[in-house]
Amino acid sequence: MPTVLVRSSLSNEADRQFDVSEGKILFDELENLGFILPHGCLAGSCGSCRIIVIKGAQNLSLLGAVETDTVESIVKNYCETNRSDLVANKSIRLSCRAKVLGDVTISILK
Ligand code: FES
Repeated sequence: MPTVLVRSSLSNEADRQFDVSEGKILFDELENLGFILPHGCLAGSCGSCRIIVIKGAQNLSLLGAVETDTVESIVKNYCETNRSDLVANKSIRLSCRAKVLGDVTISILK
């Protein structure tokens, strides 16, 4: 059973770790645990549910074409420089599209 570790981006919040069934959508699992992520489309096109993958990017399902386009747009519009390495390294993912296939460590973008 894969483990998801959510690293807190706030000093007064603890990291949280939980087990998920393989193949589950990350957004759904986070929501079930009380993580309320912004969301709009739940289809990979609005980018609201973005997360940072700290470790285990290879343990998430592959990016589809829509998610790739959205992530590239996020990087282009919101990162200080065009950080194509964030796309190439799958550091930014959309939780509504990512299926958990193995252990992963993430941070939720506030
Ligand atoms: S909710 Fe729109 S991309 Fe995930």
